[in-house]
Amino acid sequence: MRKLKEFLLYYKQTGLILVIKRLLKRFYSFINSRYPAVIFIEPTSRCNLKCPICWVQQTKIQRKKDLMSLDEFKKIINDIKGFCGGIILGFTGEPMLNKEIYSMIKYAVQNGLITSMITNATLLGQGGVIDLLDSELHDLFLSIDGATKETYEHLRQGAKFDNVVNDVRNLMQIKKKRGQYYPRVHMQMVVTKTNVHEISSYKQLAERLGVDRAYVKTLHIEQRGDEKYVNTILNEYFIEGDHARYQLDKTGKLELKTEFHFCPKWENPVITCDGQIVLCCFDIEGQYSFGNIFQEDFKMIWNKQKNKVIRQQAKKRSLSICQNCLPAQKNISEELFSNL
Ligand SMILES: C[S@@+](CC[C@H](N)C(=O)[O-])C[C@H]1O[C@@H](n2cnc3c(N)ncnc32)[C@H](O)[C@@H]1O
Ligand code: SF4
Ligand code: SF4
Repeated sequence: MRKLKEFLLYYKQTGLILVIKRLLKRFYSFINSRYPAVIFIEPTSRCNLKCPICWVQQTKIQRKKDLMSLDEFKKIINDIKGFCGGIILGFTGEPMLNKEIYSMIKYAVQNGLITSMITNATLLGQGGVIDLLDSELHDLFLSIDGATKETYEHLRQGAKFDNVVNDVRNLMQIKKKRGQYYPRVHMQMVVTKTNVHEISSYKQLAERLGVDRAYVKTLHIEQRGDEKYVNTILNEYFIEGDHARYQLDKTGKLELKTEFHFCPKWENPVITCDGQIVLCCFDIEGQYSFGNIFQEDFKMIWNKQKNKVIRQQAKKRSLSICQNCLPAQKNISEELFSNL
């Protein structure tokens, strides 16, 4: 009652227009000081494979190949745990190459964050399965691009199909024996000319291995890479049709089939292994770096006016990086099955 009286008095003294203006300002600053619900973290930018279609490793990013330390990771979690709901481990490298990965996951989970990891699954066998199950990771995304040895080992150069399949089977068996619900295990294949005929056998393989979910994803063609990469992808891997995100126009140029007008990820930054907070998971070079979390607090960096301006432009997809953007395209994946 007292509050209402105060408000009426305030209203009488200042006038309707001013009250509305102030409320709008408050609302605007509330919207603009929102903090991200999901953040990607890159434990390392190094990789142990040479996948010919990889849009980050094959396009030769210029950032230094580096590893994040456990202390640096903890600094990040301490900064973000008050507002962030979940983290995704993985960006340009192979996260399991970081020997601290299990301690990192544990620390994030203990601090209340829903934690996921995207991995090429080649390092599960080195005692990794038990450590992974003990870490209480919530979601594990396995990038396995084929249902047969020949196809898989061509698309995932440096990996061994039999080892990966055995390790995933082992992981699922031990998880079942321990009666654990987490991690939910998702198996994913990027569809190319080389493996498109294996989609139904991929589903069967995933079911046999006992994973919780399997899906296929369309191939992204990175335009920021060198011409050689684009030509190889176009000639050897791209296939038109239902599983493609592009179609060829009359002149033979690639065009996107469907995309969002607004960015669905404008508030999901990535923290790279050297501490840069970059715009989004498409900014592999750190072109739009908001600042370095190893030097400043996350909230301070996030609220800088210049960074708010960049995010407003990203929201409307008006930055040059937003054209041919991988995450802002619709229907990029198709579920094969899910037991979740
Ligand atoms: C860049 S990798 C980093 C994590 C890890 N090294 C891995 O392979 O899962 C992240 C994801 O990008 C996917 N990817 C790589 N190149 C792609 C492309 N040209 N089109 C679509 N997805 C791609 C991978 O399959 C993987 O799921
Ligand atoms: S393992 Fe992942 S990061 Fe490494 S080359 Fe393959 S897709 Fe790229
Ligand atoms: S639309 Fe722009 S901001 Fe959004 S994910 Fe793509 S590149 Fe990043």
